[in-house]
Amino acid sequence: MSATQLLEGLSYPERKVLLTLEGLDGGASPERVFEAGQFQQLVEVMNASSWLQSKGLVDIKESAKKFYSLKAKDILDRGLPERKALQFIGSNQGRCTIAELEQGIGKGDASLAIGWLKRKSLVSMEKGEGAPSMVLTDIGKRSLGADMPDEALLRTLAQADRPEDEVDTNVVAQLKTRQDLITERLVVSRELSVTDLGREVLALGIELKEEVAQLTPELIKTGKWRDVSIRKYDVNTFAPSLYAAKKHPLTRVADEVRRIFIQMGFTEVDDEYVQAAFWNMDALFTPQDHPARDMQDTFYLKRPAKVEIEEEDIIAKVKAVHENGGDTGSLGWRYAWSREEAERALLRTHTTPNSIRYLAKHPDPPAKVFSIGRIFRNESIDMTHLPEFVQIEGIIMEEGANFDMLVNVLREFYRRMGFDTIRVRPGPFPYTEPSLEIDIYFNGRWMELGGAGVFRPEVTAPLGVKHPVLAWGLGFERLAMLRWNLKDIRELYITDLDMLRSSPVF
Ligand code: PHE
Repeated sequence: MSATQLLEGLSYPERKVLLTLEGLDGGASPERVFEAGQFQQLVEVMNASSWLQSKGLVDIKESAKKFYSLKAKDILDRGLPERKALQFIGSNQGRCTIAELEQGIGKGDASLAIGWLKRKSLVSMEKGEGAPSMVLTDIGKRSLGADMPDEALLRTLAQADRPEDEVDTNVVAQLKTRQDLITERLVVSRELSVTDLGREVLALGIELKEEVAQLTPELIKTGKWRDVSIRKYDVNTFAPSLYAAKKHPLTRVADEVRRIFIQMGFTEVDDEYVQAAFWNMDALFTPQDHPARDMQDTFYLKRPAKVEIEEEDIIAKVKAVHENGGDTGSLGWRYAWSREEAERALLRTHTTPNSIRYLAKHPDPPAKVFSIGRIFRNESIDMTHLPEFVQIEGIIMEEGANFDMLVNVLREFYRRMGFDTIRVRPGPFPYTEPSLEIDIYFNGRWMELGGAGVFRPEVTAPLGVKHPVLAWGLGFERLAMLRWNLKDIRELYITDLDMLRSSPVF
């Protein structure tokens, strides 16, 4: 921002601080500015200064200094224990035993004093015949009539607090080891100075007139708005962040997917997580010994262990299709189909049973439904896998529906999601022919996003469906990861407040 723009955005207190600083040769403590500028309160100066600092017009230098003050105000009158001892020994011809000292100044003071007498080399010990005596040293004698260094410091502090650079740090360190004699506090002092940019702004000429930050009805009605100066609104200045409530990113992607399919003429359906294997696999012409049916891939349930299937007509046709193709012209898988196996309860491993069960209930054209549903696979968790995830499923059933339509619908869906470059490859599903897998190109590489195809007659015939069914099942989390630029699928499901807060609302 230019100096002129900065000048226009200055508030009244900011102007005043700048001008006052100029009058104080460009630098002063906030306290000086407060006095010289006749501010109401010191915080005004502080607030304005930090604004000026954030605009680069003023520098604030902080320095911290330790200050010492006397805590035990009466200590010099009472006397340090070693001072009492010193006097006692002095009046006792310069020597005494410990017992004598205890008697003279009391046991408590004596025991405190002895340590300090030695530490300060005020006495030396002499062994005579009886008990050893303490004898005043030269230092001890000199100290009789004069303050010891620590007493001198205490006397100074009794007059006024002193900063660390005005006291002997060794003496302070010693006093600090004694209880409740002195206190230390950290005082932060600040020094404001006008920066070069600040000088530029000052050179433009700052006018100090009261200004209005808000236009009130009062100002408008009275016409006063003509006379007052109204402060420019500065959209670049710092403001505290506000975090409005918003939907979780996953929910937003789901809403987007939903909106697109609805706009394309689809209706949303969903079904139960717990399904008979029949709807998850058998009705999809997946043989009962197919590897996907293995416990390694599929969660089978203990309670309920079985889900009964009642659609006897469909069951009979599915059995026939598996065993010999029924009347579809297929050879079938040629094994003895087991109803028991088909009634095993499992957690759906894809959302395709939603479509199958919808078709079983609505075999007549047209059908255009989709679902966004949770599915379960026995996978270990890593960067790209979760045992629970979501699929975007859908079908179109109508007379004349064909593979081209399928590819175009998927292309259109991804285009509306914002992904233009798409490719399809042959796919491996037992229930579709032709089958495809769809990839989208993103950040320099192809990402596999899902599978699709045209249901085989072995799937549609037992349901009583007479027209082609285009079907797809697409990864949902992958899409969300691309949208949010995430590398790890787990990030979608951990509650990371920072990520949620910083995620844009689109
Ligand atoms: N069900 C398949 C899957 O889970 C996707 C799919 C759906 C493929 C419909 C073809 C038709 O990956």
